[in-house]
Formats: sequence, structure tokens, C-alpha cells
Amino acid sequence: MAVPSVVLNNEVAIPQLGFGVWQVPAGDTAKVVRTAIETGYRSIDTAASYRNEAGVGEAIRSSDVPRDELFITTKLPNPGHGYDEALRAFDASLAELGLDHVDLYLIHWPMPARGKYVETWRALEKLYADGRVRAIGVSNFHVPHLRRLFDETGIVPAVNQVELHPRLQQKALREFHAEHGIVTEAWSPLTQGSLLSDATLTALAAKYGKSPAQLVLRWHLQLGTVAIPKSVTPSRIRENFDVFDFELAEDDLAALAEFDDGTRTGPDPDTFSS
Ligand SMILES: NC(=O)c1ccc[n+]([C@@H]2O[C@H](COP(=O)([O-])OP(=O)(O)OC[C@H]3O[C@@H](n4cnc5c(N)ncnc54)[C@H](OP(=O)(O)O)[C@@H]3O)[C@@H](O)[C@H]2O)c1
Repeated sequence: MAVPSVVLNNEVAIPQLGFGVWQVPAGDTAKVVRTAIETGYRSIDTAASYRNEAGVGEAIRSSDVPRDELFITTKLPNPGHGYDEALRAFDASLAELGLDHVDLYLIHWPMPARGKYVETWRALEKLYADGRVRAIGVSNFHVPHLRRLFDETGIVPAVNQVELHPRLQQKALREFHAEHGIVTEAWSPLTQGSLLSDATLTALAAKYGKSPAQLVLRWHLQLGTVAIPKSVTPSRIRENFDVFDFELAEDDLAALAEFDDGTRTGPDPDTFSS
């Protein structure tokens, strides 16, 4: 079944289910990404700091799937903040990937302090104007960071990629995004695996004849977020893609809403800057 897509604020479509490669070892990345593409994933999420962009590029080049059917995201490394630095960091990522453009380029974190990300954003606007990226966005931005971009620059980010899963549902931020036409993309959509053995979740998944991971990914799809689960395990890569043939009932969505206790698996962007 085809993956549904979400339309960004510049009419570019992003698949609602993608494949993340954080912590995939560089030497394994091409093989893992090839498995993902063969399974049907068309969106791959990497970053300069994951040090595996070259493997992603290798998988793309060796795939039968045409480049224009793939959606490739990468991210600016934290030392890449500043206008000239960001342009150089983008060139370095493209060279690692071996591509002539990426589909989505994100500022990975709103750092360092004193709002240097505004200057960085202007570089992303130039990359967009020059046609080297099909869309630009941010990651780990809170509302004040976004407001600052609105006030001081020209383009509203197409995407904000943030930690989001049943334990951290980011309701207020999602509402803010919806108000401003920003697509919410969920990182660690499976809580890095930590929630998947929960008894309530397991029982809920069994009702649908699905695994806890499939239940959680289905929840993301119905919430309207873009999710990018990671796995290096071929059976899980396939399992995580098999989520398009069932639908969660309203009362089960309500049961999942109860999991929201604010637990993070990663750092809070507030610890970096404002
Ligand atoms: N923008 C940011 O700051 C940021 C931060 C973190 C992550 N991300 C992005 O989001 C992607 C996903 O997040 P994540 O990697 O942190 O965590 P995740 O996708 O929530 O979880 C990955 C973990 O869950 C396990 N897993 C995957 N499928 C499973 C299944 N069906 N059953 C049981 N366990 C399963 C994986 O194990 P195995 O691999 O061993 O199978 C791995 O340990 C990243 O790869 C990256 O692309 C972005």
C-alpha cells in the first residue's frame, strides 16, 4: 500500500512514514537503507552528525527507485551555525550524500545561544532560493524560537522535527504548528523502544493483531504527524511499515492519550538556548 503523504507549506509532499538512521553504524548504513527502500520506505532521515550520510547516498545510488521518488532529509550540524558556516555545512552534506540536492534541510538544534540560528536560517533561505533544497525546516525548536524566525526572517519553516511519542505528545506545540502551517515530524516515534513492552500497550495492540510498535506508528499516522522510526533489524523494518491496513478506534486513541506524562528520551532544546 502507498504511504500517505503530508503537503508542506510550499506544496512539496513528504511521506508520512519515513526511516530514521540515527545510531546506524556508518558501515551498515547502505545495507540497512537498501532494506528500507526495498520494503517500501521512500523517505530517509539522516544528519551530518550521524556520520552516515555517505551510506545513505550509496543506498540511493544502488537502488532501482528513481531519485525523484525518494525524499531525503539531512540536518545542519551544531558547529555549522552562522551564515557562511551553514552554506559550507550544506555543501559538505551534499558531498557526503553524493547528491545534487536534498528534499528537506533542517537546522538540527536551536543553538548556540543569542539567536545565531536566525543568521543560519537566512543561509537556508538562500539554499532554498537557489533550488538546492526542495524545502527547509528546523528541529527541536520551541515556540519562542519559531516566533523569532517569523519576526526576523522571510520563510516560515516547512517542518519542525521534535521528540514526539505517546509519552511526550507535544499537544501545545502541535497546535502552534497547525496554526502556522508547519508540519510536525516525530523523532524517537517509538520512544527508542522503551515503551514497547508496556502491558497496556501490548494488550491494546493484540486487539488489532498488531505489535506495540505498529500500534504506536498507527497512532502517529492518525495524529497527522510524520514519523521516522529507526531499526537495523530487517524484520522490524518490515514490521514498522506494515501499518496501513488497520485503524485505531476513538476509545483506543483516548487510551493512548493517557500515556502523555512528559517523559523525554532525549535532551530538551530549552537546555540549549532561547
Ligand atoms: N532531530 C533530532 O534531534 C533527532 C533526535 C533523535 C532521533 N531523530 C531521528 O528520528 C529517528 C528515530 O528515532 P530513534 O532512532 O531515536 O528512536 P525510535 O525510532 O523511536 O526507536 C528506535 C529503537 O527502537 C527499536 N525498534 C525499532 N522498531 C522496533 C520494533 N518494531 N519492535 C521493537 N523495537 C523496535 C530499534 O532497535 P533496532 O535498531 O535494534 O532494531 C531501536 O533501538 C532517528 O533515527 C533519527 O533519524 C532525530
